Amino acid sequence: MSSRTVIRGGLVITASDEIHADVLIEDGRIVALAASNTPAAQAWTAERTIDATGKYVIPGGVDAHTHMELPFGGTFASDTFETGTRAAAWGGTTTIVDFAVQSVGHSLREGLDAWHAKAEGNCAIDYGFHMIVSDVNQETLKEMDLLVEEGVTSFKQFMAYPGVFYSDDGQILRAMQRSAENGGLIMMHAENGIAIDVLVEQALARGETDPRYHGEVRKALLEAEATHRAIRLAQVAGAPLYVVHVSATEAVAELARARDEGLNVFGETCPQYLFLSTDNLAEPDFEGAKYVCSTPLRPKEHQAALWRGLRTNDLQVVSTDHCPFCFEGQKELGRGDFSKIPNGLPGVENRMDLLHQAVVDGHISRRRWIEIACATPARMFGMYPKKGTIAPGADADIVVYDPHAEQVVSAATHHMNVDYSAYEGRRLTGRVETVLSRGRVVIDEREYTGHAGHGVYTPRSTCQYLN
Ligand code: URP
Ligand code: ZN
Ligand code: ZN
Ligand code: ZN
Repeated sequence: MSSRTVIRGGLVITASDEIHADVLIEDGRIVALAASNTPAAQAWTAERTIDATGKYVIPGGVDAHTHMELPFGGTFASDTFETGTRAAAWGGTTTIVDFAVQSVGHSLREGLDAWHAKAEGNCAIDYGFHMIVSDVNQETLKEMDLLVEEGVTSFKQFMAYPGVFYSDDGQILRAMQRSAENGGLIMMHAENGIAIDVLVEQALARGETDPRYHGEVRKALLEAEATHRAIRLAQVAGAPLYVVHVSATEAVAELARARDEGLNVFGETCPQYLFLSTDNLAEPDFEGAKYVCSTPLRPKEHQAALWRGLRTNDLQVVSTDHCPFCFEGQKELGRGDFSKIPNGLPGVENRMDLLHQAVVDGHISRRRWIEIACATPARMFGMYPKKGTIAPGADADIVVYDPHAEQVVSAATHHMNVDYSAYEGRRLTGRVETVLSRGRVVIDEREYTGHAGHGVYTPRSTCQYLN
């Protein structure tokens, strides 16, 4: 027996269109769209009808950058795959791509197997994996080919964090050369970590231990320098490049220049860089620790360049880099030494709403909202049109979004497993009302109806966004 659902009367928004249409879903997939109130749409019968009159009907969000349970700084990111994907669903995100980690001295396979074990049976929504490559050697390079074949088609490397995830330029070049051959996409954490570590040591020696110094030592110029270097290494290798968590005006300029040259160079930014700043890092009583992440928050003036980059397509994607650590017991590890504060911010639940607020505020259009949050991340990481759009054949990952609802963001009401919100007290217009994941209602008019284990692993094809 097939199961059918119809969503009636909403404004269907994709990256390319806005139409008043009804959406017919059968067995977890979208099977048809038809203009609302037409005989074609009215003829549809279904077990369940969702009334979306006055609402938006949008693709479920695709968050291509999360770190559930990431081991970092002697502790673990506080959201598990279970709690983090449930929170994602609450926030209208129906697919995450999380980062499996290769530890130094171990294989990619071991890291990937470990991440599968963490996620399997625990996720409320669908998930895929990128692979963090921490140890480039002949074996690792061969393993990259195998991973691409089985649907792990993107690899993160770090120009920061010497002694942990860091790769030197030679290791980066080798991995890029390999990805140029096997179709993989290198994702770069672009900060000059060797220089930053010198500045950290000097700051601490001067007694500069507060969280705000995290922002001062991780200089915009050192993000721009690393971004430039990564771009040129990728150019030499003949490989595409995706730069993660871009925060500095100068780094956006490097991406823009490379794109003007016709290179396949892409950039991601995150809500924290668009909505928060060094003012937050400077909050008194160690509260600034809540905002410690890398790349760091920048002075407010950088936000304009990020919004502009999102409008000009010099930046293509907004992901969260969701990597939560509780203030109590985790962020506090760095009292008296900012370099010991675990790096990362919570946000997987907030991204779709914050970006809708950007629509309300006039930074981006509605279709651009869907493009940067759903369609392009799906394309960039080989999941389109299964994910990221509303079209016949696509997975029925759909959000009914109320653009007029008002909400106040708070840790008291969020669903992420973390004891603070980076956006505490912020008033937003717009709210997720109902969420479907592969046709199953997982949020039903602001009630959770999903379950751990509904979400399945999603193998990915290679990048679908190349010139
Ligand atoms: O501060 C951050 N971004 N933590 C997560 C790890 C990373 O570099 O993406
Ligand atoms: Zn091993
Ligand atoms: Zn990073
Ligand atoms: Zn990250």
